[in-house]
Amino acid sequence: MARTTDFSAWLAKFAVDFDKQLSVVLDDALSDDSRLDQSVKYALLGKGKRIRPALCCLVAGAGASNAPNEAVMRTAMAIEAVHTYSLVHDDLPAMDDDCLRRGRATVHVEFDEATAILCGDALLTYAFELLATVDVAAEQRIELVRVLSQAAGHNGMVMGQHLDIDATSQSLSFEALQNIHLLKTTALIASAIEMGAVLTGQNADKWREFGGHIGMLFQVVDDILDATADSEQLGKTAGKDDAAQKPTAVSVLGLDEAREFAAQQCAAAEKGLRQLGVESSNPLNQLPSFLLDRSF
Ligand code: IPE
Ligand code: IPE
Ligand code: MG
Ligand code: MG
Ligand code: MG
Repeated sequence: MARTTDFSAWLAKFAVDFDKQLSVVLDDALSDDSRLDQSVKYALLGKGKRIRPALCCLVAGAGASNAPNEAVMRTAMAIEAVHTYSLVHDDLPAMDDDCLRRGRATVHVEFDEATAILCGDALLTYAFELLATVDVAAEQRIELVRVLSQAAGHNGMVMGQHLDIDATSQSLSFEALQNIHLLKTTALIASAIEMGAVLTGQNADKWREFGGHIGMLFQVVDDILDATADSEQLGKTAGKDDAAQKPTAVSVLGLDEAREFAAQQCAAAEKGLRQLGVESSNPLNQLPSFLLDRSF
């Protein structure tokens, strides 16, 4: 429990630093007088947990050759831009139809639906603009683009969202549900880990299994929190999955078994970190139990 508290403090500080740097980069890239640019800032600078950027930075910190901080930060921002786009589109009326995100009105409610669609488009494109200017060797930069585009696209997050929408009101096997989780959530989370490895010349393949467990853990806990927490705590509408008849870890396994599965994924991720030989001082060691115990 003490370890989770430590990591909460580490993550809170990381998020403040990350948001500060992101805000400077966005001020440079975006104007204040266009509603589209305002919506991009609104979405990206909302109070996100910044788990994916943190993962990228922590894995980069586990590398022997540290990449320049700015390259790691820019890459982390690109990942957060893709993630934020996925949230803006996930909340659209044609998808999950949500009005609350990161503790405030969703982009289509605060602005309008067309702006929210374009905001997502702009965030996705901006992510690759950021990656194109990451100051590392050209081959590494190309690898970053490959990893992020594959995770985000039709064989990754977008396909996961397609299957998730199609599965509404269906009864799924746990295997079919896991395939959706693998695509809609794990792909992007695993890519953040892989990109941290790419930036510091580590063998990205070695991190793949760990990324798989972290992604599964993340989405199963998201499903559990939807069923057990309240909207204020989550900053997004609680109870949404049941109301929308979405198959989730809770609807397929039941709450107790979903918790058991999450604990197994946490243990497997911790074992993976030991096998990867991550230094004991790296906060990454505390991340799996933080994700298991999180309440938001
Ligand atoms: C929510 O992600 C969407 C899922 C993939 C479950 P987060 O829980 O990381 O959302 P933010 O970034 O903290 O708002
Ligand atoms: C969304 O899963 C995964 C994404 C790719 C955005 P959810 O639909 O469960 O995410 P929340 O609960 O709305 O954040
Ligand atoms: Mg969804
Ligand atoms: Mg949703
Ligand atoms: Mg959810």
